[in-house]
Amino acid sequence: MKVIRVKDAQEGGKKAFELIKDGMANGAKVLGLATGSTPETLYQEMTASDLDFSDMTSVNLDEYVGLGGDDVQSYRYFMNDRLFNKKPFKETFVPNGKAEDLAAEAKHYDQIIAEHPIDIQILGIGRNGHIGFNEPGTSFSETTHEVELTESTIEANKRNFDKVEDVPTRAMSMGIGSIMPSKEIILMAFGEDKADAIKGMIEGPVTEEMPASVLQKHSNVTVIIDEAAASKL
Ligand code: GLP
Repeated sequence: MKVIRVKDAQEGGKKAFELIKDGMANGAKVLGLATGSTPETLYQEMTASDLDFSDMTSVNLDEYVGLGGDDVQSYRYFMNDRLFNKKPFKETFVPNGKAEDLAAEAKHYDQIIAEHPIDIQILGIGRNGHIGFNEPGTSFSETTHEVELTESTIEANKRNFDKVEDVPTRAMSMGIGSIMPSKEIILMAFGEDKADAIKGMIEGPVTEEMPASVLQKHSNVTVIIDEAAASKL
């Protein structure tokens, strides 16, 4: 893994943007995108740039079960609001959290990924080391699937909801088995509450108990972290 240390999230967003720009100059056509506060500075860089994304496809990692694109807390809404409404893409995919048959939706989403192999996957990381919504204990071979969120993830994500009871307890997420075939992966993490996960991911054993540790097995990963997130390395 290549580790780039930055001053703060602002500088991290700029670095990630440069990597995406280089990737697009080299022919990247499909971006795997993530939500959460971490990639916000990257999306600011993308929207402020003069880069044209109208020939690009995006495939997002995950979505809450039960939320539709009109719900402000949905990841579809987040993506439209932060990026797609400002920088139109050719096609954008986010799992349908309101699908009646979630198993069928998961299969359908894997089909979408198969038809649009991801050139560059952007990742954040959960405090417990989850990527996408692949919580500790998830098999590395799992593809898109329905997930039961852990208490700690619900607790961490409640800041985006009025009260903790409003946080969905389930999500639809690309699996590690869907993420690992991406040609290039850029993982960003900022702040001290990510320090343990970053240490486990980079220095710990590769184990399903620390989902992000699987990235040690990928040949093209760049980790962009600030000093606080790097403080336990
Ligand atoms: C959620 C998302 C992840 C994200 C994580 C960290 O659980 N499913 O994709 O990486 O939160 O979020 P944040 O960047 O807000 O710390």
